[in-house]
Amino acid sequence: MSVLMLVLVDIDDGKQVFLARSFALLFHCKFPRVQPSKLEKLAVVVAYSLPGRVIGRDGGGLPWHHPEDLRSFREVTAGHTVIMGRRTWECLPVRPLPERRNLVLSRNPALHFPGAETCPTLLSAIAAARAGGDPCPMVIGGGTVFEEALPLATVLYITEVYETHTGTTFFPPVDETQWEEVSHRASGPLKFRVLERRNI
Ligand SMILES: NC(=O)c1ccc[n+]([C@@H]2O[C@H](COP(=O)([O-])OP(=O)(O)OC[C@H]3O[C@@H](n4cnc5c(N)ncnc54)[C@H](OP(=O)(O)O)[C@@H]3O)[C@@H](O)[C@H]2O)c1
Repeated sequence: MSVLMLVLVDIDDGKQVFLARSFALLFHCKFPRVQPSKLEKLAVVVAYSLPGRVIGRDGGGLPWHHPEDLRSFREVTAGHTVIMGRRTWECLPVRPLPERRNLVLSRNPALHFPGAETCPTLLSAIAAARAGGDPCPMVIGGGTVFEEALPLATVLYITEVYETHTGTTFFPPVDETQWEEVSHRASGPLKFRVLERRNI
């Protein structure tokens, strides 16, 4: 790395970027990298059943009805920007979610969601949320968006539903060695957990 710095001090900016990219590729680095950062918080809020980490049923919607989980969801996300996939938006019983800025991901620029803003990528949604002053944007699903957001998340709000449900949409596996549980509370078949990412 120090050799790279010595080479770069003597050349103009454009060439520096070109050379830095070439060195990065040479050393099999991804450039630029997108990594979770504790300074830039990103939350994932999910409820899944165990076993199986089921989050959605055939035809869309949640496989269960637990008012206590809905209350917890409202409390956790209140005042924040919520980021969701287009299918999750379509499954919401109330649209937009009140008292929250709603960002909906869709690759179709022709789609408009009344009361929400359309974002073409997850990263653009996160950037828009932060630009709007939210220190901790919240990704609220569904399955495809969770897959993409989990590696970037710094905090997880998980409701574990200890019931057997069949479903068609699932949450990705959570490597618990990467996370520290900072709180948990059990209530009937539900367990509310908050996990923070370690070592960032
Ligand atoms: N249990 C829970 O906590 C929970 C939470 C949320 C949702 N759910 C359930 O999950 C199910 C929906 O999940 P799903 O996986 O089917 O759909 P989804 O992730 O909600 O939405 C998928 C759609 O979002 C858009 N999208 C996703 N990633 C994108 C990206 N990176 N950039 C741009 N657009 C992107 C695409 O829309 P276009 O096709 O328009 O391009 C894609 O077809 C429902 O059953 C819902 O009830 C459960």
